[in-house]
Amino acid sequence: MNSQDRKSIHGIWKGRWTFILAAAGSAVGLGNIWKFPYMAGEYGGGAFVLIYLICILLIGVPIMVAEILIGRRGRNSPANSMAYLAKEANTHPHWKFLGVMGAVAGLLILSFYSVAAGWAFAYIFEGFNGTSAEYYNLEFNNFLKDELKLISFHSIFILATVFIVARGVIKGLEVWLNRLMPLLFLIVILLAIYATQTGAFLEGVNYLFSADFSKIKPSVILAALGQAFFTLSLGMGAIMAYGAYMPAGQKIGSTALSVAFLDTLVAILAGIAIFPIVFANNLEAAAGPGLVFVTLPWAFVNMPLGLIFGKLFFVLLSIAALSSAISLLEPGVAWVVESLKTKRYIAAGALGLIAWTLGILSALSFNLLSDFTPIGDRNFFDSMDFLSNQILLPLGGIFIAIFVGWVMKRENVLEELEMNEGWVLKVWYFLLKFLSPVLVGVVFVAAVFFGVT
Ligand code: PHE
Repeated sequence: MNSQDRKSIHGIWKGRWTFILAAAGSAVGLGNIWKFPYMAGEYGGGAFVLIYLICILLIGVPIMVAEILIGRRGRNSPANSMAYLAKEANTHPHWKFLGVMGAVAGLLILSFYSVAAGWAFAYIFEGFNGTSAEYYNLEFNNFLKDELKLISFHSIFILATVFIVARGVIKGLEVWLNRLMPLLFLIVILLAIYATQTGAFLEGVNYLFSADFSKIKPSVILAALGQAFFTLSLGMGAIMAYGAYMPAGQKIGSTALSVAFLDTLVAILAGIAIFPIVFANNLEAAAGPGLVFVTLPWAFVNMPLGLIFGKLFFVLLSIAALSSAISLLEPGVAWVVESLKTKRYIAAGALGLIAWTLGILSALSFNLLSDFTPIGDRNFFDSMDFLSNQILLPLGGIFIAIFVGWVMKRENVLEELEMNEGWVLKVWYFLLKFLSPVLVGVVFVAAVFFGVT
């Protein structure tokens, strides 16, 4: 039975654009707005950007198609969709475990993601009245030492996420994504236009797009591949969960391409908005988390209308993080609602509480628990980041590619994609069956054994 005849108990999105908004909302997040520009700078600008784009196209898009396909055909939470499709393919029901693992990974990511999102949220209320870059450096470090403040903003962020998910797929997700996403795109465009006025615009653009191919090393390729994966929200069922709410008849292939395009556009616009500001003020480009929280407030102070645009920037970062966080919680909540027949607000509250509790440990890892290093020399926050992004997501991605590429019947795949045999399909199958598992496998092994990414 295909997705025409089956309905998700959680609802089907009404708007034709909602799936794209939702998937783009999931994809566009902290990963795009501070991590992408910083990585691009760190790993050689244009050369990194080029490899990143190739990874998005050759690995990200095919796996995204696979996730949407599983979700829409399964019409359930990732765990139950996997179980349904395993049955349809006459294979072992244990494939369900892939969906369960994804839901758990989602909670792990949410726990520390929310702490970082809390920083962005807190910075909306920043006065932007310091008089030196050191001032902001000190201020950020003091902020990280303030347990109560970190936990408060983390709590507010989790509450907002739980609130939206608890309201349900139509009244919560669809309504809020339709409100938040246009705002997000408007702010990115405003900031990019603002950046063209800062003088160092060309220097910034040049930094991002001039390809210095001598900087391409295996570690750069691995970093670009890992970032492509994380930024598209692949490997843990976020896109799969949203696929279950996608109306039948919407073309999966072109939709995935649009989402990847929007995600990439925002990352690049964010880079175009950030680097000119950094260069115009002689700030450190490869400053990691500090790039956003230390250098930008200082940069904004020195510009006309800087206070307003500074606040706008952190509003943007908060919205982007919130629309990603919803998709981290949804796979688990949908699964609990289906399996335990609980009310949605109870499932969202309970899972939110788990993520919140774990997140406390992340918030404390910058102060009270800074000596607690569960994985290698990483504090709790970095350990969660490492465990989910470097291990659980790539592992999930490989198995999703294998499931759709090797396990599902070709006729079912074709039916769901609404496609006929042809070169597009052949290329996609090749990328999914061979290229993605092998390349993602390399990232995974390298990350685990050599800590390269
Ligand atoms: N894609 C999001 C970002 O770039 C993070 C994310 C990963 C969201 C996995 C959902 C699932 O910030």
